[in-house]
Amino acid sequence: MSISLPNHRHTTAVIHLDHLSHNYHLLKGAIDPDLFFCPMIKANGYGHGDVEIALRLQKEGVQTMGVGLIEEGLLLRENGVNSELLVFGIFDQAGAREIIKWNFTPVLSLWEQIDTLEQLAEKPVSVHLKFDTGMHRLGFVWGDAQKLFERLNRSSKIKVKGICTHLHTAEDMVSLGGKSEEQLERFGEVERIFAPLRPISHSLNSAGLMSFIHLQKQNAEKGIHVTLNQGVRPGLALYGYSPLPPAQSHLDLKPVMSLRSQVVRYHTLQKGEGASYNHTWKAKRPTILAVIPIGYADGYHRLLSNKAEVLFDGVRVPLVGNVCMDYVMADVTDVVQKKSLSPYQNQEVTLFGYDSKGNLLPASELAQKSQTITWEILTSIGERVPRSIQAEKSKVESQKKEVSQ
Ligand SMILES: Cc1ncc(COP(=O)(O)O)c(C=O)c1O
Repeated sequence: MSISLPNHRHTTAVIHLDHLSHNYHLLKGAIDPDLFFCPMIKANGYGHGDVEIALRLQKEGVQTMGVGLIEEGLLLRENGVNSELLVFGIFDQAGAREIIKWNFTPVLSLWEQIDTLEQLAEKPVSVHLKFDTGMHRLGFVWGDAQKLFERLNRSSKIKVKGICTHLHTAEDMVSLGGKSEEQLERFGEVERIFAPLRPISHSLNSAGLMSFIHLQKQNAEKGIHVTLNQGVRPGLALYGYSPLPPAQSHLDLKPVMSLRSQVVRYHTLQKGEGASYNHTWKAKRPTILAVIPIGYADGYHRLLSNKAEVLFDGVRVPLVGNVCMDYVMADVTDVVQKKSLSPYQNQEVTLFGYDSKGNLLPASELAQKSQTITWEILTSIGERVPRSIQAEKSKVESQKKEVSQ
């Protein structure tokens, strides 16, 4: 959840909830409506503000969402989220008590978790089981599925509602002989063992789901209809970014977060003068610099120094010099020299996402330039940056309104 700070420096992460709804309907519409669909809203809704994201998804009719931590689940429950919450993280005894109290659905990975829940539960607890089929992070060893089935089949306290796995290279989900094929084969064995309990089965993140959509499209061109038999847990795609290359990304996803600020002052530099720490950049011509109040302490990575661009009056301009803790500088000479500076006082600058005229600078571009991934760019935006929630009506609300008119 975003904390509410006064915003004297006018640096804001604008959260377009209508884009979230748009992405959700695109993704959901691409698969069988009855398939398990669990948006991932861990890590503060990928940095967007988990309560607001969850409440919007709830309005759109989402029945199950995924969080990493019990603490994340508690915050959602306290703020009116009553959808089913899958908790993927490991928990101790105190955590197990909260799970039972707040009616969370734990995703179990360890044998001890079964014992703990059985000791504490007064009535049956529904769980999902996670299987490690190759990621080697969380999950029961897939080869233990039969033993686990026998253990849980005789438990009166634990009801297996779902089974799942996580693909480590989901981008290759559609290729034969890929890493995902091996993982899905192993998971298929787990599914066969647990079939008598008729659990929900899920494995695909955004890359897996988008790969399936790509496969579906390729086959449709040949007149072949392919279906998905796995539930999905998208994160990144819901927030508007495809993890696949453009040629394999067939949905018009819209970024949900726009990081915007306002120029606080301008400098006029002579040729040869430098800017920011260590003068890693020097002016090659008379230059007008804009100082923008956002820095690495806000999660705007220092690795972007001298690499990134920002949107200034609808134009891409380069960041110059090292990113500071609270500020960055941009060379705005080409835009500003055509006019005087006066129309540019308090000029809006967009670090990523959409500017207020609708021009887009994708966060994925910053990820590439700072040698990281889009997930990290989004989740890095810190609590010093207030989230400004733009909450145009959800599709469901608008439809309700139309019907009642
Ligand atoms: C278990 C699990 N499922 C699904 C996701 C969603 O992944 P993505 O954001 O790539 O869609 C994650 C994210 O890390 C995850 O840990």
